[in-house]
Amino acid sequence: MGWFFRALNSSIGKKFVMAITGVCLLLFLIIHLVNNLTLFGGPELFNNVVKNLETIKPLVRVIEVILALIFVFHITNAIRLWIENKKARPVNYKINGSSKNSDIFSRTMFVSGSIIFIFLVIHLRTLWVAFNFGHPKAVTHEYFDILVEAFSSPIYTGLYLVALILLGYHLYHGFQSAFQTFGWNNKKFFPLIKKLGLIYTVIMIIGFASIPIYFFFFYGGNV
Ligand code: HEM
Repeated sequence: MGWFFRALNSSIGKKFVMAITGVCLLLFLIIHLVNNLTLFGGPELFNNVVKNLETIKPLVRVIEVILALIFVFHITNAIRLWIENKKARPVNYKINGSSKNSDIFSRTMFVSGSIIFIFLVIHLRTLWVAFNFGHPKAVTHEYFDILVEAFSSPIYTGLYLVALILLGYHLYHGFQSAFQTFGWNNKKFFPLIKKLGLIYTVIMIIGFASIPIYFFFFYGGNV
């Protein structure tokens, strides 16, 4: 077992954990978007979907714990790799000038990731906490109205849109980076991976952004 943890602690091990957890998060976002798109079916449909999820609450809780652990591994490995990268940087510059590009890449991924993390905390605070911990509209199963309330604020809606642009950057580059770590960066597959990453990112960002925009313009202030 010791060899396993040593492998996970090596640089490539950390990158692998980043890639695997990153792919899990890419998959989570697909499920999350599909679930959220039911909002376009109106209050009755969305409230019923959430109400049905309440009937399998223990399973939802287990999935949420797994998801939280995935986030924790993704973020802690990002921080550890970032520190490693920083320590190695002066040497890299002397040996190989091209490391400048990868340095800018990891810095922008780290910065976009950090801002997405702040977004996530705000997002969970306003929606997940409201849905799960006694918001009056959640008690009466009027979950839809919680979103109407949240997205009636131009600041909150604007924050979502800015965060989603950064998320787009992070997803597009993270997608490629993960498959590179898996060794799919050959001439044959990599252009396809890049295209798939772009299609995935565009669908996710347009899909997620459509929700705050829709709520802000069609429901803004009508709670
Ligand atoms: C912009 C559109 C989005 C909307 C309308 C939305 C809506 C929601 C709602 C209503 C919940 C609470 C669900 C419940 O507890 O039953 C939730 C939870 C959550 N959201 Fe979002 N979300 C959006 C975007 C995102 C993005 C971009 C991420 C990731 C970066 C994200 C990550 C999460 C996570 C991790 C949870 C907690 C786990 C869960 O309950 O599924 N969300 N979201």
